[in-house]
Amino acid sequence: MRQNLKRTLGILLAAIILLSGVSFAWASFDWESYWQQNGEEIARGVYVAPGHTESERIIRWYTEEKDGNTVAVSKSEDMNGAVTFTAGTVPTLQGDYSAEAEIKNLKSGKTYYYTCSSGSYSSPVYHFETASGSDFSALYVTDVHISLDDRNINSVMNQSGKFASVISQANEKADISVILSAGDQASEGRRAEYCGFVSPVDAKNNTVAILEGNHDRKYVDYKYFNANPEKENGGIRSYIGGDYWFVKGDCLFLMMDTNNGDGMYHYGFIKEAVKANPGVKWRVAMFHHDLLGGRIPHREAENKLIRLLIMPMLDEFAVDLVLMGHSHYYTISNVVYNRKTVLSTKDIDSVTDPAGTVYMVSGSINRPRGVDPDNLPPVGENIGQYVDTDKVIYNILDFSEDSITIKSYYLDEEDSFNTFTISKTSQAGGHPKFGKNPVNYVVRFLGRIYALFNNIGKYNDLKEHGCDIPFFDAVIGR
Ligand SMILES: [Fe+2]
Ligand SMILES: [Fe+2]
Repeated sequence: MRQNLKRTLGILLAAIILLSGVSFAWASFDWESYWQQNGEEIARGVYVAPGHTESERIIRWYTEEKDGNTVAVSKSEDMNGAVTFTAGTVPTLQGDYSAEAEIKNLKSGKTYYYTCSSGSYSSPVYHFETASGSDFSALYVTDVHISLDDRNINSVMNQSGKFASVISQANEKADISVILSAGDQASEGRRAEYCGFVSPVDAKNNTVAILEGNHDRKYVDYKYFNANPEKENGGIRSYIGGDYWFVKGDCLFLMMDTNNGDGMYHYGFIKEAVKANPGVKWRVAMFHHDLLGGRIPHREAENKLIRLLIMPMLDEFAVDLVLMGHSHYYTISNVVYNRKTVLSTKDIDSVTDPAGTVYMVSGSINRPRGVDPDNLPPVGENIGQYVDTDKVIYNILDFSEDSITIKSYYLDEEDSFNTFTISKTSQAGGHPKFGKNPVNYVVRFLGRIYALFNNIGKYNDLKEHGCDIPFFDAVIGR
């Protein structure tokens, strides 16, 4: 009897070891083989960017063909009854082209299938969905940091695989219909990193909204990769891109490049976006720099300037929620107005009609901060909630007419470690009436002068790195 038990336990143990080995090997083999078998497709960098409204999208990829690039879009997977959209092209630094097609007339609450074609190339059939009404879920990540690394040829593959796991786990928890990424998608600003960023099929099967982190500005490939629906509104911007807005459900997303100090440009952008969307209830701003976290003391001088420049605009235009990155430290601020706390969020998980704005930062996907319990970093005076962890964090944001609920997760864990809800009972919510202050005009103007000189510095940096772009384009950002 005892021998039988021993034998059974032995067999069970062997089976468990074998099975766990198989599943582990399968998980790693899966991504690596996908990556290796689809190298050419991954290098096309196909992805779907938002359009201004839910009835529009922009689909982009790399092509050798200057002309004759098209995207077919259909409501059925077999591409029956597809509508064809022509893509325009711009030449890239690498000698090929970046193609972009504007997709229009999409209906709400539908799944659309698409395939990109250039000469003899046709992409697999991917898909994306449009939201219906006010309800939708977004995946918010930041500092994904896909990194080219001379010492590790597999770094881009492995880090893209980490991001693939994040998207896949978020998809299991919610019906994600947009991926919001708050900058530093790439570490060196190189094309291979961006292609890695959108290499997961789950990324190509969604709408991906990116913006400029400081690392994205290390080179110029972001300029050709990004397909954001920018509008010319004058002012100085960066050579790689600028601000853009889009509306999804009942929310206006204000996507801003805070590498750019031109306050007059940013102000004009927000004003135009708000004016174009008067009936939209929620306003969410997103940019790279962590304004309130205060967790990295040597960055506070820079943060102080960006706070002076940007926060009065967010107050004036009654922004409800700000999503940021850069510090790689997870924080949720108090309700803040006029750069001061008006309500602490330390011991609460929801606010209704807050009299100000909530600022949030998520952790990095591929560069989470290490934690030294004996030497924890400081926390900003306006921060209500934070964690010190070296775990990978992602967030699911559930939008509805009356509320935005943030659910934050650690990778590979089932339950959220934090939730926070902002509710509004009217379009204005509790936002105070903004009193204009002439100092803000002066700061915005000085920001423009700073941005000019900063761009000249960037032009010289890029030239030193063998990237000679036209001087005028680099300085005013066209
Ligand atoms: Fe970063
Ligand atoms: Fe950064």
